[in-house]
Amino acid sequence: MKAGFLQFKPEFGQPAKNSGKVRSLLKDRIFDLIVLPELANSGYLFSDKSELEHCSENPFTGEFTGCLKEICAEKNCHIVSGLCERDGDLFYNSSVLVYPDGRIKVYRKIHLFDSEKKWFAPGNMELEVHEISGKDYRNVKTGMMICFDWIFPETARTLALKGAQIICHPSNLVMQYCQKAMFARALENHVFTITANRIGKESNGGDELTFTGESVILNPKGEYLFKGSAGKEEYAVTDIDPDEALNKFVRPSNNLFDDRRSEFYKL
Ligand code: ACM
Repeated sequence: MKAGFLQFKPEFGQPAKNSGKVRSLLKDRIFDLIVLPELANSGYLFSDKSELEHCSENPFTGEFTGCLKEICAEKNCHIVSGLCERDGDLFYNSSVLVYPDGRIKVYRKIHLFDSEKKWFAPGNMELEVHEISGKDYRNVKTGMMICFDWIFPETARTLALKGAQIICHPSNLVMQYCQKAMFARALENHVFTITANRIGKESNGGDELTFTGESVILNPKGEYLFKGSAGKEEYAVTDIDPDEALNKFVRPSNNLFDDRRSEFYKL
């Protein structure tokens, strides 16, 4: 199957512009699964709650996800995207998996980074895997985690133990460790990982952040199938065989899951 990422710069506070941008960058592209960055509808650096109110949405009825649904239906594909989600009075740093038939699965970031704690409620849902199927792939288990979740190896491990073959990882990284560390997340779990990181700078309320780009796709051997550039918009798709992630042997006598000694991991 063809799976990869779209690396770009979401415009802060401009969900309609951002959905238009996604639509135009994916025009004429053919893929089965594409991952977009974290908070792709809203941008990242908030300084006031009113900014969140303005650009967040309900994933099931919102306009940004509505646009993603249209793209998925037109192309018979799947999109995973970061989303600034509103649920009543609470905001979540979420990720959605959009199916060609319009279904939507939601994950809410569990490990909030730095000032995100000021704006977002921490994720309150189980890490889950979801099956996706297309013309030449069936029941491929995919999981979602968001940006800083990478530094807690339990996140990717839990998804892998639940059967994830591909971990989709929308990101707004500001440090450069993650792109290197995804080698370990992919290898230790024998899964494909797709980290879609944003590019560009944001300044707001006296703060400034530069996002590091360099989105990466890895296979279950920990090999980099694609490394994006630091500062350019980039679309990258690789042909992968998700069944490679079903084999958990690293040596003929070592199986990553069967050899776990969970009785010694208790605290
Ligand atoms: C991050 O979690 N956005 C660094």
